[in-house]
Amino acid sequence: MSAAPGSEQPGLQRDVPLQALNTLALPGRAAQFLRIVSPAQLNLLPPAPARFVLGGGSNLVLRGDYPGLVLQMAIPGREVLGRDDTAVYLAAGAGENWHDFVGWSLEQGCPGLENLALIPGTVGAAPVQNIGAYGLEVGERIAAVEAFDFQRGEVIQLPAAACEFAYRHSRFKQEPGRWAIVRVIFRLPCPWQARLSYAELAREVATLAAPDARQIAAAVCAIRRRKLPDPQVLANAGSFFQNPVVSADHAAGLKAQFPTLPAYPQADGQVKLAAGWLIEQAGWKGRQLGPVGMYEKQALVLVNHGGASGADVQRLTDAVRADVREKFHVELQPEPVFL
Ligand code: EPU
Repeated sequence: MSAAPGSEQPGLQRDVPLQALNTLALPGRAAQFLRIVSPAQLNLLPPAPARFVLGGGSNLVLRGDYPGLVLQMAIPGREVLGRDDTAVYLAAGAGENWHDFVGWSLEQGCPGLENLALIPGTVGAAPVQNIGAYGLEVGERIAAVEAFDFQRGEVIQLPAAACEFAYRHSRFKQEPGRWAIVRVIFRLPCPWQARLSYAELAREVATLAAPDARQIAAAVCAIRRRKLPDPQVLANAGSFFQNPVVSADHAAGLKAQFPTLPAYPQADGQVKLAAGWLIEQAGWKGRQLGPVGMYEKQALVLVNHGGASGADVQRLTDAVRADVREKFHVELQPEPVFL
């Protein structure tokens, strides 16, 4: 549904700079811009040639000016919905900061999200690429997602089973123009159990007899701070490429040639490879191309050393992909959305 001709939605802005709203700090302007603080606003959008739903801007490559309408999802709210014998249920508005929400959940005595501490971005963006780190993916802790469906013009609730969560993937990523997530409902299993399957995290808490959720969150933050640049200090969008998943045969061939290649067999028989390792071996760790480069402490992270444009990022993306393709016959896929 669109607003009637002549009536303008309150708060609609024009020609808005987006550089401060994406963590890679790329320049570009939105022709129209609206801050969404309530789902009801989504029923009355002005006509626009295109529409983009923006969260924290931490998974975005802005190519330049955007001719359409940018919706900045800023819906607030956090609550403990209740408990049953098997779980505690929490809800949060799409605009809540992810890391603050994780901290708040721990303060409420509701552990279960601690492995995902310090991930940049918003609650509403978390399900889109099914954020994951240190042995946990957010889809494992989601009961349902409430999203405005632009096809139907209403908010519907999708149970987790309808969200098609997979590694860095969901239905919302598959159908980008269709949904604007407005609220997420979490299910945190009781009794809580520490998730320490990720070797580096287990090592970090090894001196503690029985680490609690707060101690695990602190360990996750410590590891992240050592390896990943703070976007406030050095502009970046976290992991820039997904870890590629290849056939068992392809992985076996690579392993024979490169015995130190990190390779993780998946439930479906395929093998996940470490993109950071491939990029480092291809010579890109700490190397720059113009104002952008691959981070010196974690080759998977593309950083903007200052003044970069979307075209600079595209050039480096292409160069890294070409070198990894040539050396390993592996096709890297960028993790962020290109706009
Ligand atoms: N590695 C290298 N060189 C590098 C980087 C990594 O050789 O420059 C090797 C490491 O030594 C290790 C392997 O690659 O053997 C995996 O590295 P790491 O444990 O750092 O994790 P990752 O695969 O690089 C993934 C996620 C991160 C997440 C960490 C921890 C993806 C694309 N990235 O990174 O997610 O924090 O695991 O679980 O799946 C993000 O998505 O923004 C993100 C940071």
